[in-house]
Amino acid sequence: MAQREARSGRVFSGIQPSGELHLGNYLGAVRHWVTAQEARNAFYCIVDLHAMSLPWEPAELRARTVETGALLIACGLDPKRSGLFVQSQVPAHAELSWILSCVARMGELRRMVQFKEKSMGASESVGVGLFTYPVLQAADVLLYRASGVPVGEDQRQHIELMRDLAVRFNRRFGDTFVAPHAEIAASGARIMSLDDPTQKMSKSVGGPGSKVLLIDPPEAITKKIRSAVTDSGRRVAAGEGKPALTNLITLYALAEGSSVAAVEERFSSAGYGEFKSALADLLVATLAPIRQRYDELISDRAETERLLGSGAAAAAEVAETTMRDVRARVGLPERAAPS
Ligand code: TYM
Repeated sequence: MAQREARSGRVFSGIQPSGELHLGNYLGAVRHWVTAQEARNAFYCIVDLHAMSLPWEPAELRARTVETGALLIACGLDPKRSGLFVQSQVPAHAELSWILSCVARMGELRRMVQFKEKSMGASESVGVGLFTYPVLQAADVLLYRASGVPVGEDQRQHIELMRDLAVRFNRRFGDTFVAPHAEIAASGARIMSLDDPTQKMSKSVGGPGSKVLLIDPPEAITKKIRSAVTDSGRRVAAGEGKPALTNLITLYALAEGSSVAAVEERFSSAGYGEFKSALADLLVATLAPIRQRYDELISDRAETERLLGSGAAAAAEVAETTMRDVRARVGLPERAAPS
């Protein structure tokens, strides 16, 4: 195990195309993906199969999948450097997910916090896909024998599960998978909602005022930041009992590449209004190039589809190498090469 882990410097991560990408996705995950592609072998996946674990509209799913691809490229992912592809275009994900679901245990899936949150206590009536979702996520990563998984804080438990599944599988069938670990940044791994700082900023939960979308026009960004809730008091300071200010100051520090302390110092004699307008201006400036590039890319959807298609072909080769080992180890027949 240790040997495999040492050999692989690969990273893998995924994102659902189930809503529009927001600042939390960018600061918690995507900007780290962009950095990782510089020095490491990286695969990034738009997980359309995962997006089917809650009720979905087919036409919307298809459109959002391409839009998510274009937006990731606009954020700086370079399909020439990293593998960027759509999950359903590499069928090995679904195949390995089945095999791993025969290794996973009901008890460990029942403990998943995201399942508890998303099923909202109605576990008897939600789709089975919502329950087995973390197994598909484990298949995503294990197929590529990735050692690092750059994600936001909310994914920590899912990465621990995939580690457990890799170790269990390897013990039972022989050394096959790399046990991956979560790469979670010290700052920005849990960006909170703008209208309720006790909840995380989320694609699927919360109204428009709760999140800044990466493709929001400047007026929308300014309006959302101006109406963001603040804490009682007057000082622009982060800390215990100041969840709203802590979140806004963190956003400022991350967008500027400075620290929370530096932002507090800069705005030490400013009021909330002045701080919020500076934050809005900074976010508008940070997101402008992403939005502009996105607008260009999305005017030619066919080109993004083509890039994603080549990404899938490259990913499928790596995935198939792993699947050949997996099939041999678990007792499934060899597969004839496609003619
Ligand atoms: P998803 O699509 O919900 O989110 C994509 C990434 O964004 C991070 N993120 C956040 N980070 C900071 N603050 C927030 N408010 C915030 N909201 C989201 C997430 O942690 C994630 O890194 N199950 C995954 C997708 C997935 C995956 C995978 C991830 C499928 N297969 C394999 C890693 C490896 C999900 O729903 O992410």
